[in-house]
Amino acid sequence: MKVKASVVGGVKEPWRTEEIEIDELHANEVRVKMAYAGMCQSDEHLRSGDFAASPEVLAMLTKNGSMFPAVGGHEGAGIVDAVGDDVHDLAPGDYVAASFIPSCGKCTWCVSGRGHLCDLGMSILAGPMIADGTYRHHLGDEDLNRMCQLGTFSEYLVANQGSVVKIDQGVNLRAAALISCGLSTGFGAAVDRAGVRPGEAVVVVGCGGVGSGAIQGARIAGASTIIAVDLIASKVDRAMKIGATHGASNLTEAAFLAAELTRGRLADVVILTPTRLTGDLIGPACQAGGKDARIVAVAIAPHDQTEVTLSLGMFAMYNQTLMGSIFGSQTPRIQIPKLLELYRQGHLLVDELVTNEYSLDEVQKGYDDLEAGLNIRGVVKFD
Ligand SMILES: NC(=O)c1ccc[n+]([C@@H]2O[C@H](COP(=O)([O-])OP(=O)(O)OC[C@H]3O[C@@H](n4cnc5c(N)ncnc54)[C@H](O)[C@@H]3O)[C@@H](O)[C@H]2O)c1
Ligand SMILES: [Zn+2]
Ligand SMILES: [Zn+2]
Repeated sequence: MKVKASVVGGVKEPWRTEEIEIDELHANEVRVKMAYAGMCQSDEHLRSGDFAASPEVLAMLTKNGSMFPAVGGHEGAGIVDAVGDDVHDLAPGDYVAASFIPSCGKCTWCVSGRGHLCDLGMSILAGPMIADGTYRHHLGDEDLNRMCQLGTFSEYLVANQGSVVKIDQGVNLRAAALISCGLSTGFGAAVDRAGVRPGEAVVVVGCGGVGSGAIQGARIAGASTIIAVDLIASKVDRAMKIGATHGASNLTEAAFLAAELTRGRLADVVILTPTRLTGDLIGPACQAGGKDARIVAVAIAPHDQTEVTLSLGMFAMYNQTLMGSIFGSQTPRIQIPKLLELYRQGHLLVDELVTNEYSLDEVQKGYDDLEAGLNIRGVVKFD
């Protein structure tokens, strides 16, 4: 079938709406009529070249050795339109959220409850469909990659059944879209990775879609002090409306504030969700943390970031822990329905984070607005 999708042709090329061809479903695949797609920063990392793999890995994963051309988007939700053979627990009409980490349900990680580390994760960089290694999406004569095996910036999404999570019928699909990546990632970084406990002091660096999840995770876990850090004052203001107790414009300022608010104890948890992660942020993050602090690296780092600056002696003597986190270190099939329930009950604020809705043709405008500091989350609304 022919559908409209937002495609990026190469590093630093603009998002363009194209008419693409999607083949019939193969076994284990589902087709979803998209309702909403969230505009996460990670899609821009694909376009900027920060979200990349080495030529050797790309040669292994793809036919043309490139991540491009690619259909963008990995946050989203919609309604199942058709299912292929061997799909038993999804049917047309089911509500689903996209999951940027596929779950096979069989690998060591999946069976031990760590679906965010599923071995299929390797396939999300680029390449053909998971089921049988053939391409289903085409732009003229070219095969298309899809962001994270998804490509939610498309009227119809065709993906492996492991890449979608069934959610309750009738839920708010715009909320489900935001929860499908950014909010789950941030919330889990605070709750599941850092294990924020009641009364703790938390610093969140970067108050976009992911940081908004971390702030709310910390609030729901009972943190007594939540310092929101962002270069842009309006983002800090917004963070104060969803649970942050204090604001700062950089990590040094946040460290002094944390010292003052905790009688010198400093932060128990520092969560790094800025636009991009660089090695020089780790030292100040550790300095904002006190004894036994957990420092969680969430944001995508350009692949040339191979060194961090850090006072190693203090790090050791303060008994600190530096940890990475993907998908909030929680299984998508657990996290997405759980956060939707917290949203339904009014604990997790989602609608407050949607700053603008765009048409599919406006994806580039949406990312320009994000770059200009105008959006917490922009969403693509489909007809
Ligand atoms: N680990 C994962 O599984 C995962 C999942 C989703 C997104 N991400 C990544 O997380 C990061 C955040 O994503 P997002 O969609 O929330 O981005 P965003 O652009 O919505 O928000 C980033 C915020 O950080 C602020 N910022 C930038 N540099 C800063 C600095 N040095 N100090 C303080 N604030 C700073 C920006 O002003 C912006 O408000 C991105 O790198 C994204 O690719 C990671
Ligand atoms: Zn994302
Ligand atoms: Zn698996």
